[in-house]
Amino acid sequence: MRTEAALKDIFADDFRIGAAVNPLTIRTQEELLAYHFNSITAENEMKFASLQPEEEAYSFDAADQLVAFARRHGMAMRGHTLVWHNQSTGWLFEDRHGNPVDKATLLGRIRSHIQTVVGRYKDDIYAWDVVNEVIADEGDRMLRSSKWLDIAGPDFIARTFEYAHEADPNALLFYNDYNESNPGKRDKIYTLVKSLLEQGVPLHGIGLQAHWNLFDPSLDDIRTAIEKYASLGLQLQLTELDMSMFRFEDKRTDLAEPTEEMLELQAERYEAVFKLLREYRESISSVTFWGAADDYTWLDDFPVRGRKNWPFLFDGQHHPKPAFDRIVKAIK
Ligand code: GLA
Repeated sequence: MRTEAALKDIFADDFRIGAAVNPLTIRTQEELLAYHFNSITAENEMKFASLQPEEEAYSFDAADQLVAFARRHGMAMRGHTLVWHNQSTGWLFEDRHGNPVDKATLLGRIRSHIQTVVGRYKDDIYAWDVVNEVIADEGDRMLRSSKWLDIAGPDFIARTFEYAHEADPNALLFYNDYNESNPGKRDKIYTLVKSLLEQGVPLHGIGLQAHWNLFDPSLDDIRTAIEKYASLGLQLQLTELDMSMFRFEDKRTDLAEPTEEMLELQAERYEAVFKLLREYRESISSVTFWGAADDYTWLDDFPVRGRKNWPFLFDGQHHPKPAFDRIVKAIK
């Protein structure tokens, strides 16, 4: 029996509290998810390659299981993701002979995909990450190079939002990206979204992935990013929050458990972050973690192969960590 306060209740007046899940974790973490969270996102199961591995041969089994889980527990569900340069399939960009398709064919294929997928989950999914990670990280270059850009030019971004809106006029449509608090990338995301809005593109929110660590980004950079994005009059969601114990460049692999010092730093950091997020509750409608507890995180192998990480508020046994206690104390 749990005695701690539920995250979703603590933040009930502020924003939804979400977790990324998969068909395994909805079983292994069911009790934790049902108690603390009121929103889920499919970790991989709604990406292009998962849903349409071959042309017109859709596979909905795994995604359907997650949707059923959300229903069973009365949770909201975010859709993730329609257009991304990763986890797409080769066939999408090629004709029968392996040559690149033309722009009209590519856009026709994504429109049909979106009608099928967004249409199928209309009653269950209230918001979609429509376009994921198209901004270049470094330098002045605005858009990252991708097959999307090669074949369709920058137009694919606006068109994808239009197709999503056409498939479900009620869904909230997000542009989603990482390194979103980095000043250079922040300004590019802002510029892209602003220009889409000026063109009348149906876009309702910005997803801040928030793959953060104990040291980066700074609270000031997070605050400035939130204010800048919110100034566009859009709603914001943290879509993939985790708090790695390691700096991105840190390659150490010697730890089997987090040190006391790491747990303490993580507690301070989570407390400060949630205090800040609450200041912007008028703009932030949801905060989703990219997982739920330390027994399962994509960071266990990334970017350092074979290294365990402990990025969440709950430990490997699903018990509250010092970071959880600190948030409760700070918010009550
Ligand atoms: C990106 C994607 C997510 C996920 C993470 C890594 O942030 O948006 O879907 O793949 O990378 O797990």
